[in-house]
Amino acid sequence: MKTIVISNRKGGSAKTTTAVNIASGLAEIGSVLLLDFDTQGHASMGVGCEPNEELGVHSIFSGKTLSETFIPTIHKNLTLSPALAFFDVYEYSDLQGVLKSRFKRENIADFFDYCIIDTPPTFDAILKNSLEVADSVVIPFVPHHLGVVAVGQMLRALYQSASQFNRDIADVSILPVMYNPHIAEHNECLQKVKTSFGEDKLLSPIGIDIKLAKQFESGLPIILDTKRSKGLKDYKRCVSELINRL
Ligand SMILES: Nc1ncnc2c1ncn2[C@@H]1O[C@H](COP(=O)(O)OP(=O)(O)O)[C@@H](O)[C@H]1O
Ligand SMILES: [Mg+2]
Repeated sequence: MKTIVISNRKGGSAKTTTAVNIASGLAEIGSVLLLDFDTQGHASMGVGCEPNEELGVHSIFSGKTLSETFIPTIHKNLTLSPALAFFDVYEYSDLQGVLKSRFKRENIADFFDYCIIDTPPTFDAILKNSLEVADSVVIPFVPHHLGVVAVGQMLRALYQSASQFNRDIADVSILPVMYNPHIAEHNECLQKVKTSFGEDKLLSPIGIDIKLAKQFESGLPIILDTKRSKGLKDYKRCVSELINRL
C-alpha cells in the first residue's frame, strides 16, 4: 500500500479538493482508503458522505480500531474513514505514533492499494501522525507570494518530522492549484518554486474550474463525472503523474 498525504498549513489551498479527486482517480485502478483528518469533514462530503459525531478516523486516538470507522462511498473501490466532528486534539496528551500502530496491527496494507490522507491546516499531532506513515506528500498551493512561502514552511515541517521519527523524508510533490496561465504572478510563482525547491518536485498545474467547487454539493468527485471538464482533465493528469512517482 502506498500512502499519500495531502498537506499544507495554509487554509484554502485545495487540499481537500485534491484529496477527494486523487482518491477517486486512484479508485479506478485499485482499492483506496480515504482518511478525513479535518474535523470539518469536507473530504467526507466530497465522496457523498457526512462527518460523523460518534465514530470517525479521529476515534483511533480514543482507543477505537481504524477498521471499525470504515464506511462505503459512492465508489465501490473507495472506502472512507470519515471525520469525527468536534474532535479536539488538545484534549489528549500522548497521541504519538497511533496511526502507524493501527496500520500495523490491523494489517491495513493488505486490504488497500492506496491510502489518501486529507489533513487539517495545523502542525499538530494529527499532521505528525499522518506524516509518519507517508510514502508521498502532495503540497497543493495557490501561486501567490504567500502560497510559495507556505510551501517552504511545509517543506521545513516535513524535514523536521522526518528527523523526529528518524526516517527518510517521503517523496514530495508540489501541486499548483487554481492556476491561470494569463496571470503573470502565477507564472512567476511557478518559476520561484522550481528554482527554490527543484523542478522535479513540481506537478502540472490544476486550473480554475468552478465545477471543482460545485462537486461538494453533489458529493460526486469531478474525476468520476462523465461530462468532460477542465478540472477533470487536470486531476486525471495529476493522478497519472503521481502514479509515475510512486
Ligand atoms: N481548481 C479550483 N478551481 C476553483 N475552485 C477551487 C479549485 N480548487 C479548490 N477550489 C475551491 O477553493 C476552496 C478551498 O478548497 P479546499 O479544497 O477546501 O481547500 P483546503 O482543504 O486546503 O482548505 C473550496 O471552496 C474549493 O471548492
Ligand atoms: Mg480542507
